[in-house]
Amino acid sequence: MAPPAQTDPGIGHDGPARFLHWLTVLLILAMYALGLAARNWPMATGAEFAVKATLFSAHKTLGMMVLAVGLLRILRAVLRPGPPPLASHPPLLRWIAGMVHWALYVALVAVPATGWLHHATSTGFAPIWGPFPQTLPLLPRDPALSALFGAMHRAAVVVLAGLALAHAGGALLHHWRDRDPTLMRMITGRVPPAPTAPRPPLAARALPALAIWAAAFAIAALMPRGTPVAELAVGSGRGDWVVEEGELAITVTQLGQPVTGRFARWSAEIAFDPRPVAGRNGEVRVEIDVSSLTLGMVTDEVLGPMFLDAARHPVALFAATLRPGPEGGYLADGALTLHGVTAPVRLPFTLELEGGRARMAGRVTLDRRDFRIGETFVDEATVGFPVEVAVRLTARRRDRATDEP
Ligand code: HEM
Ligand code: HEM
Repeated sequence: MAPPAQTDPGIGHDGPARFLHWLTVLLILAMYALGLAARNWPMATGAEFAVKATLFSAHKTLGMMVLAVGLLRILRAVLRPGPPPLASHPPLLRWIAGMVHWALYVALVAVPATGWLHHATSTGFAPIWGPFPQTLPLLPRDPALSALFGAMHRAAVVVLAGLALAHAGGALLHHWRDRDPTLMRMITGRVPPAPTAPRPPLAARALPALAIWAAAFAIAALMPRGTPVAELAVGSGRGDWVVEEGELAITVTQLGQPVTGRFARWSAEIAFDPRPVAGRNGEVRVEIDVSSLTLGMVTDEVLGPMFLDAARHPVALFAATLRPGPEGGYLADGALTLHGVTAPVRLPFTLELEGGRARMAGRVTLDRRDFRIGETFVDEATVGFPVEVAVRLTARRRDRATDEP
């Protein structure tokens, strides 16, 4: 019987290795597309904001898959290394190729890990879907840390792009110019036998690869960064109004009775001008510490996993565009992220301006089902669907001379 087409494990890459390799390529391409689209998506309206949030969540969640695949590939590369390099490649090329492979392996961890660290330390609103933790132990949500990891993530995606282009370019050159089986042994795995040469020692490939990454991260960390802006902060991230005092209250119907509670800790960044420009008066970003809610006797239940799940979703975020509304009032038109779900919210509010002070009051009724809150309470017998939100605050116009750094 004629021998089967060449499947000599010494020459071609085995099935799992090929599958993981091309899966990674697809995932990485999707990650760049999602990352760049999410970053550049506009957020002038609630609908745009919701799309942007979805793109970011998809980016982060798929990125966790890259991390898992990357770790698996590293394990395989150490335990079941692929076929040795072709003898037709000069020793220096074999070493460079091996080093780039290891730099790519490191990238498969370094890129998603810095993304995750950036996410975990920022008060961004787009959650990672699924069981992954939104925060990491020992790492506070801190703007400076988040800016550092953000810079590292952006540097890492540039380094990965450079490595992948050099690597893919090399593979294509071997295929078209040298007509050697390098590319085919990663595509079909079946190639004619060819002499191979010993691989340079693991340390000689992996250590310089680690050094490339250490240098990239050192440069990213040392580069000056502007004022840290929380992920997706509205506008400049610094409002031109300072909130002096206010109240954020919610009312739910429990067993047919209204129960009102308040959030003790929240902050608002407001940029507002009474004269609209292009139909907009400004923008607002409100961050709410979910665990600061007290709601009658049921505070613990409401903060628990059945309802707001404050342990997993500690921060709620409302980001909106401010524009003129009906009857001389205004509208805050944007999106609220609560319980890890982002939904459009339009809050009508009134404003009394007096000198450099503004008093605002607004109210909106939400439906808890839009935020997947209390999903096991499928009817309104114990807890109603509507949640009334009432907010009022007094703010003073920022005095640029004294308040700006
Ligand atoms: C292989 C995996 C990944 C790739 C290739 C990747 C790629 C990218 C790219 C190209 C951008 C846009 C960068 C820019 O605008 O300069 C980006 C931004 C971002 N990525 Fe990733 N990413 C990955 C994994 C992750 C993961 C796992 C997370 C979080 C869990 C994440 C969170 C983010 C965030 C928050 C941003 C916005 C950064 C900012 O500009 O502040 N990424 N990513
Ligand atoms: C996008 C990101 C990519 C990553 C992260 C990546 C990663 C890797 C890694 C880590 C290896 C080493 C496998 C081993 O240990 O033997 C490898 C091998 C290989 N890759 Fe990629 N790769 C990427 C894209 C591409 C592209 C676009 C091509 C083709 C145009 C390609 C062609 C190859 C070939 C032919 C090999 C086998 C080299 C050999 O047998 O010596 N890769 N890749």
